[in-house]
Amino acid sequence: MMQRLLPHLFVLVLLGAILLAPGRPAWADEDELGGIPRAPGAEETYYLCSACHSFRLVAQQGLSYESWKETLVWMIEEQDMSTPEPEERELITKYLAKFYGRDRLARKLAKQQ
Ligand code: HEC
Repeated sequence: MMQRLLPHLFVLVLLGAILLAPGRPAWADEDELGGIPRAPGAEETYYLCSACHSFRLVAQQGLSYESWKETLVWMIEEQDMSTPEPEERELITKYLAKFYGRDRLARKLAKQQ
């Protein structure tokens, strides 16, 4: 009896899991940027910073504008990161400070949806 029921049970559980899965944030629909918040600077930041390590290493931080600025200096001077053009550098630092600042806005956005 149980053996015949099991496959059905499995399908039901699977269906349930799919239906009840928490909604994914709108900006994670196209996942090329690893689901990071879409805003000016998102692409530049994602591609530059995930060239050497997981973007998670970046996303787990919560730093002020000044500290992100210093992090970029550290990446450039100690880790051989290519130096972005000044405008792009500013855009990236602002993006990081906004979404990966001390209030970790990116995480809040991800939880809300
Ligand atoms: C050229 C390669 C390279 C690029 C590009 C790069 N990083 Fe790194 N990054 C590293 C290496 C290597 C480490 C590990 C350094 C260590 O721990 O000694 C690191 C570590 C870090 C850490 C430290 C994590 C911790 O555990 O404290 C942060 C934060 C970070 N990177 C941010 C960035 C950001 C932001 C960008 C994009 C603007 C970036 N990285 C781009 C090579 C790179």
